[in-house]
Amino acid sequence: MHLALIYLTGALFISAASCASFNPLHHSGPASPYFDAPSQDGVPADTPAGCVVDQATYILRHGSRYPEPGSFAGWQDLFLKFQNNSYTASGPLAFIPTWVPPVDDVPHEPLFLSATGALESFALGAELRKRYQFTKGGENITVWSASQQRVLDTATFFTRGYLSQGNYLTVPSSNRGSIISLPDSVNFTFANSLTPSTGCPAYATGDTGAPSASAFRATYQNAIATRLNKFLDGLTLTSTDIGVMQDLCGFQAEVNGDMRFCDVFEDSEWLDYEYAHDLNYYYGSGPGNPLSATVGFPWVKAVSDLFALGPGKTTPGGNITPPALIMGFTHDNNLPPIISALGLWNDSRVEGVYPLSHTAPNPMRKFRASFLVAFRGYVALERLACSIVHDTGKTVHVAGAPPTNVTTSSFVRVRVDRAPVAISGCTSGPASTCPLAQFTAYVNGPRANVAGNFVQRCGLQNVANATGEATFLTVIPPDAGEILVGLN
Ligand SMILES: *[C@@H]1O[C@H](CO)[C@@H](O)[C@H](O)[C@H]1NC(C)=O
Ligand SMILES: *[C@@H]1O[C@H](CO)[C@@H](O)[C@H](O)[C@H]1NC(C)=O
Ligand SMILES: *[C@@H]1O[C@H](CO)[C@@H](O)[C@H](O)[C@H]1NC(C)=O
Ligand SMILES: *[C@@H]1O[C@H](CO)[C@@H](O)[C@H](O)[C@H]1NC(C)=O
Ligand SMILES: *[C@@H]1O[C@H](CO)[C@@H](O)[C@H](O)[C@H]1NC(C)=O
Ligand SMILES: *[C@@H]1O[C@H](CO)[C@@H](O)[C@H](O)[C@H]1NC(C)=O
Repeated sequence: MHLALIYLTGALFISAASCASFNPLHHSGPASPYFDAPSQDGVPADTPAGCVVDQATYILRHGSRYPEPGSFAGWQDLFLKFQNNSYTASGPLAFIPTWVPPVDDVPHEPLFLSATGALESFALGAELRKRYQFTKGGENITVWSASQQRVLDTATFFTRGYLSQGNYLTVPSSNRGSIISLPDSVNFTFANSLTPSTGCPAYATGDTGAPSASAFRATYQNAIATRLNKFLDGLTLTSTDIGVMQDLCGFQAEVNGDMRFCDVFEDSEWLDYEYAHDLNYYYGSGPGNPLSATVGFPWVKAVSDLFALGPGKTTPGGNITPPALIMGFTHDNNLPPIISALGLWNDSRVEGVYPLSHTAPNPMRKFRASFLVAFRGYVALERLACSIVHDTGKTVHVAGAPPTNVTTSSFVRVRVDRAPVAISGCTSGPASTCPLAQFTAYVNGPRANVAGNFVQRCGLQNVANATGEATFLTVIPPDAGEILVGLN
């Protein structure tokens, strides 16, 4: 009850100030504090009746944070511009002469989690403990994390939330979290990493996200500056200022709850801002980068193999058995490759949507940065055990039917920021889930073909020790660290 209230307060804190139905924080791409994405496939978010989740895996971006040093420099430049000039400001800009950037301890804030980020992480731990009920009181949990501090801190707060029930503060031998910390964004762990994009040398050449996003921004930022400059006398906003001011909506909302920059811009201006982020991720690390599926595939293959075995088992050659809930903490750019490897949000059969247009946002697109790489955004796979009632050879799914002629079958569901996402061509299970055997065949067949051979496609044929497999979930790599987390 208490945790639910804290989480509710956190959610209200983020959404209350925007009373109109359009919420800029749901269209701010990677600057959006976490929110549950809307269902795009019309599938309810609840576990289907007659099913229980018996294994689940999450790969997620760290929680809400302060700006990186580069964006913080942009905030400071904007602050100096607002301070170091004589001008008058009115209308939506009336507040800017007194605006102060929300960073008050420079050595300890930029790059690191905000309080909202810590809350998001703790809340997910509590949410998943309750949703799956995989862990008995007093049992430990092991999670995996890339090792930059904001990512480890997310893993730490998650673990504390996950372990927050009960009276274990004085019982250090039970109810512990263990974080297996992997080298972050290095080039020597190849596919065996939560940050494989930096282990694939050819990946960078396929990345055309930033130029595509910049070209799109150039089509709308000047018009916004012209509109807003009518509210200023003695000061002129440039397109660069517009970019910083739109970023400040999401960032300042999560850092200190100030939403004044959110109110400066019109709905259509937020949709353009969002689309620039969509292009950045689609062509940068998503399906528009020809190496994206290659980079995301090793993790997908590893969890598909574990799902085929079921909970409590390890793959051949493994020396540890992952828990039923397999958590991996990483950065934004490592989520779109998972979407690509799974073959989601890139269906060329939907005419005119993919590949994304460089100039004209299509409202039918499902690939939206805001619904994937918001802070603490995730891709999750759940393995469901569902009771299937057999009726004279015809298989039907009946909730609450009497237990005659019932067998249990396994299915796989993908969730992205909680919203269920159907796998195109594999939706015959309850609530559009994919039968497990079909899922593993899909991963090992068509998706493996799209991904290709990691070592070859990344240009690592002549590199000693290069590997195309993610084995870290079952074999602890020699360069991993272990961090114990208790509640105290
Ligand atoms: C502050 O104003 C002075 C005088 O107008 C100008 O020379 C200087 O470049 C400005 N500094 C910044 C950081 O904008
Ligand atoms: C939990 O982890 C601690 C520290 O590694 C260990 O001493 C303890 O035996 C573990 N407890 C359980 C229930 O596995
Ligand atoms: C990794 O980076 C180092 C330093 O930039 C470089 O010397 C080395 O060749 C790189 N290794 C691979 C496999 O790309
Ligand atoms: C995305 O769709 C394009 C066009 O159909 C296709 O060439 C590409 O392989 C797809 N990408 C992925 C990751 O499936
Ligand atoms: C039970 O299910 C099997 C397999 O679907 C079917 O062949 C059989 O007819 C069913 N029996 C009854 C009584 O429904
Ligand atoms: C390859 O792995 C071996 C054994 O772990 C290690 O001694 C060697 O330094 C590695 N080589 C390179 C180029 O990383």
